[in-house]
Amino acid sequence: MFQTIQFTTPSILFGMDTIRQLGQQAKKLGAGRVLLVTGPNVKEAGVLDKALSFLKAESIDVEVNIQGRDTPEPATSVVEDTAAVARKGNFDVIIGLGGGSILDVAKMASALVTNPGKTKDYFGPEKVPKRGKPTIIIPTTSGTGAEVTKHAIFLDREANVKKAVASTALLPNVAIVDPMLSVSCPPRVTASAGIDAFIHAAEPFLSKNANPITDALALDAVSILTRWLGPAFADGQNLEARYYMSLGSVMSGIVLNNSGTSLVHAMAYPVGGEYHTPHGITLSAILVACFEGILMAKQEKMVLLARAMGEPIDGLSPREAASRALEAIRHLLQSVDLPISLRELDITDKTRISRWAAEAHKEQRLLSRSPRVLSVKDIEKIYEKAF
Ligand SMILES: [Fe+2]
Repeated sequence: MFQTIQFTTPSILFGMDTIRQLGQQAKKLGAGRVLLVTGPNVKEAGVLDKALSFLKAESIDVEVNIQGRDTPEPATSVVEDTAAVARKGNFDVIIGLGGGSILDVAKMASALVTNPGKTKDYFGPEKVPKRGKPTIIIPTTSGTGAEVTKHAIFLDREANVKKAVASTALLPNVAIVDPMLSVSCPPRVTASAGIDAFIHAAEPFLSKNANPITDALALDAVSILTRWLGPAFADGQNLEARYYMSLGSVMSGIVLNNSGTSLVHAMAYPVGGEYHTPHGITLSAILVACFEGILMAKQEKMVLLARAMGEPIDGLSPREAASRALEAIRHLLQSVDLPISLRELDITDKTRISRWAAEAHKEQRLLSRSPRVLSVKDIEKIYEKAF
């Protein structure tokens, strides 16, 4: 089969202490005056002061916008507030510094400077017509991939569902990925963001949208993240672990941006929207059930996942080797205190299944990439297993 492949990525600056180059990078984008969107944790960890010093060294004028402690995914109202600041301030560049939620707010606020209306006008694929102000996106956790993707995810409070703006116009100009910034990330967040990164590699790899470029990145990212998630969780000061988690995360972010997520993310949105459980934690609870549900469609690729995760599969039948991948994932999740069922999150009310399945089924942007064509009934069965 002859495949057409389009591959996009922002300019990426990866490595220890690359934050030192923030000023020069902003200057290259024409910054005289910048808006820096960040959060209280980043300030408390001293990372904000560090970033500001490198901007001031280049005589760049900075307005800091500190986000509140919102639900794990920010509500659209939060973006509207930040966009109002961005629209008023006549900024040359917008910088996002923080976890995935903050980065998403920065990306969307930038887009709303050059595009009219509100966030809710842009939910869905390719709805944002114009690029926003140039952005520099700097993650302080290893996982969301927001620094290299065209996506921004927000909670639509009216529907109580998480929705995605997925527009090429949102792709950051520059991603600065400095593993040193993730050192203060607590173990629970390290695990949650880390497994999100793992899924951003594994899920597109199993999807219909996979291609040889993203597959190569995905398999390496899966190996790296499987190897280093445990050590990073066990000791946040382990710089080697932080380095490789950041590397694996940016690689899986590129996979996500170019091949897209599918079933696991589609099924996590209704649950997360209702229970406000962190994104990575919600994904974790349903992950094995979801992969079991599509195993029959992609057995040969599940075998490759098992191998990438370090499982000894030589001499096994494809069926046995594929099931080793599921075991390895279960083991990985449990080793870093992540849930492998909804019950572990105290989500026990099965009467919600039919509504969730109907909502997940509406996420055709994601579900159309699933290697198995899934009816609402099929999705209900997977939720049932996830309990
Ligand atoms: Fe994700």
